[in-house]
Amino acid sequence: MQARLTAIGTYVPDRVIDNHYFESIVETSDEWIQSRTGIRERRFAKPTEYVSDLAEQAIRNMASNYDKDLSDVDYVIVATVSHDHIMPSIAAILQHRFDLKASAIDISAACAGFGYGITLAKALIESGMHRKILVIGAETLSKITDFNDRTSCVLFGDGAGAVLIEAAESSNIGACISGAEGSHGQDLYLSTHSTMINGELISASGKIYQNGRKVFKWAVSRMSEQIALLLEKNDMTIDDIDWFIPHSANMRIIEAICKTTGIPLEKALESISVYGNTSSASIPLAWDLGLQAGKVKKGDKLLVLGFGGGLAYAGTIIEW
Ligand code: UT7
Repeated sequence: MQARLTAIGTYVPDRVIDNHYFESIVETSDEWIQSRTGIRERRFAKPTEYVSDLAEQAIRNMASNYDKDLSDVDYVIVATVSHDHIMPSIAAILQHRFDLKASAIDISAACAGFGYGITLAKALIESGMHRKILVIGAETLSKITDFNDRTSCVLFGDGAGAVLIEAAESSNIGACISGAEGSHGQDLYLSTHSTMINGELISASGKIYQNGRKVFKWAVSRMSEQIALLLEKNDMTIDDIDWFIPHSANMRIIEAICKTTGIPLEKALESISVYGNTSSASIPLAWDLGLQAGKVKKGDKLLVLGFGGGLAYAGTIIEW
């Protein structure tokens, strides 16, 4: 049996936060944020709106846009770092809300989570173990952002994206790559209790900490290598790719990866400018923006690649 990705849906909260919002909180400016990151605005969830709510809405939008029956979904994978709580899993909450007879698991791979979710779903279907899987990337990063840290608080936003992966005669999900470099764990973390990472004492803030410069350099050099590997594994070249959908961490990272790999920047789809960095949700959000803009068409080949906390990465090539 083969795995086919057949539908996508997204959701972002209504509350729009522009860059000026941060000027009264930390020493920053709209000019700095736009020029260093490409972010113009982002969305923040209401205090009473949680990751499970955003994920639920993304799934409902997907099902209605593509007229999908979800009653026989048999597995739910949620990629998130901003859980409503550690347990129960967001996936189990969704299994209950949609009244599914399904396995349910959250995965922790930060901004690589959506890519990892697709990889796992493909394997579960192609092994014959499952037939219909929801993969969701959903975040309320505004709830775990350190608003005293100007180097990170201006970056993050909230949103969710869901895809449906089904058993079919032919696959549209190509060979996948994934990996991790835990030696860089202390460069991007979220800790709920004081602990050690790679011999460094980490204080428990419950908020995201990032060494931006280090992660930036790692992302550009390592992801450029992984793109070459992914193309090779799929027996393709850059010319075969219609759209490049990397994790939207920073517009300058996307530009630098395009320059290093030779991918024309016009082929890159991003969600950073209007939604900020939404971690596991950023790839489906960029993809859906591309669909809504009429850019992504049936049959187009999409190279998706997530990267971030871990540090970890995962990607594949999907024929839409
Ligand atoms: O999603 C997971 C993966 N994450 C990433 O891939 C993120 C990777 N990193 C980045 O996107 C960028 O490194 C940042 C956007 C976080 C920072 O941009 P940068 O161009 O690397 O800035 P920098 O850290 O080198 O800082 C440059 C200057 C510093 O001032 P000095 O030392 O030159 O005087 C910072 O203190 O910019 C200062 N700065 C700010 N100034 C105004 C840092 N944040 C701000 C701010 N407003 N918000």
